[in-house]
Amino acid sequence: MRTRPLKVALLGCGVVGSEVARIMTTHADDLTARIGAPVELAGVAVRRPSKVREGIDPALVTTDATALLKRGDIDVVIEVIGGIEPARTLITTAFENGASVVSANKALLAQDGAALHAAAEQHGLDLYYEAAVAGAIPLVRPMRESLAGDKINRVMGIVNGTTNFILDKMDSTGAGYQEALDEATALGYAEADPTADVEGYDAAAKAAILAGIAFHTRVRLDDVYREGMTEVSSADFASAKRMGCTIKLLAILERAADGQSVTARVHPAMIPLTHPLASVREAYNAVFVEAEAAGRLMFYGPGAGGSPTASAVLGDLVAVCRNKLAEATGPGESAYTQLPVSAMGEVVTRYHISLDVADKPGVLAQVATTFAEHGVSIDTVRQQGKDGEASLVVVTHRAPDAALSGTVEALRKLDTVRGVASIMRVEGE
Ligand code: NDP
Ligand code: HSE
Repeated sequence: MRTRPLKVALLGCGVVGSEVARIMTTHADDLTARIGAPVELAGVAVRRPSKVREGIDPALVTTDATALLKRGDIDVVIEVIGGIEPARTLITTAFENGASVVSANKALLAQDGAALHAAAEQHGLDLYYEAAVAGAIPLVRPMRESLAGDKINRVMGIVNGTTNFILDKMDSTGAGYQEALDEATALGYAEADPTADVEGYDAAAKAAILAGIAFHTRVRLDDVYREGMTEVSSADFASAKRMGCTIKLLAILERAADGQSVTARVHPAMIPLTHPLASVREAYNAVFVEAEAAGRLMFYGPGAGGSPTASAVLGDLVAVCRNKLAEATGPGESAYTQLPVSAMGEVVTRYHISLDVADKPGVLAQVATTFAEHGVSIDTVRQQGKDGEASLVVVTHRAPDAALSGTVEALRKLDTVRGVASIMRVEGE
């Protein structure tokens, strides 16, 4: 057992960072035994130095993160500030000064993961980020390491705790959107700017990271098709219920049937109540991974919150410290397949479309013809009349997304279609 401690710089001491510091202190003996050397919190960089931080020695607190990294004795940096800058520059500075990095920053990894991996490799150091995807759930490491000998073809899951919390509350208690978002924010689930959660950017960043790992290619945030959940209404939930479904914000990553490309998307979707993802409640996340040899695997657990996320950060800290002591590094980026990411139009899926139409002879035929003209086959149609108008709900068979969106565009132009009330994809059947 080495007695000289490994020195850790903690960048950020908010929802996640404060829990990381707490567990490092309360579990110090166990961490020492598991790593083979003590770990010492050498400094804590924050924005507001005067804020009272329970359990943190005020002498460790600084607003000068760069000076902390440059003092020359830091072995590992934990970055839990979030956002692009100053996190990116600080991580680069950490590598330049010989420190391995543990980060929970999905936004940065989705945008600049390749450059950060290259910097880590150049300096012979580690970059670990289990906490960046799905909170406490061990997912990045199992996909990167345990499934490294298999071929992953599809990943589908709920990877944002805030939006799952909101959708669950809207569905189960009839709570309003804002009320549910406020509760998720108070519980520490939401990002600093919750737009990242509700507009799907956070899930898209996680989707980009997972797609890169799953398919051994480079997928950036811009490659991921994204729709948020702010438009999901109580009428959508009522419609989903009539179909035996609920609504979830899903991340879906697929290898094309010919194996020559991949797709990555995030959007709300109806899924059958019998699907395991339908019973994922509150801020929990769950991810299905379909691999050629392993078959279907499901990873499930708390997807957000200080303590669950700190668990993933601490797991990475132990791994990175062990590597330091062994003078080794863990696996870096694997992007050798260089598979291109196809556009959303090529994804094959099903639509649930809710139309407000005139209630008169020939309207149904006109609508059906529009679907046929775009090569989209109808599965079910439900019509409900109301004062000379009717509400028409059409569920399609599987078709390319481009054909489905072309159909909707044409429907909007029909005189007899007063409006398209909602469009939602149907998954998991
Ligand atoms: P918080 O906003 O709670 O904490 C951010 C911390 O960074 C604060 O301590 C803040 O200081 C500090 N900070 C901000 N700017 C600077 C700066 N320029 N220099 C030094 N410190 C700075 O965020 P979270 O803890 O919620 O999230 C941190 C990271 O973890 C993000 O990347 C997030 O996406 C990720 N994450 C969060 C999860 C969650 O459930 N919250 C789950 C999984 C990942 P001060 O305290 O003085 O304001
Ligand atoms: N805001 C994120 C979420 C935190 O709600 O999932 C976890 O990454």
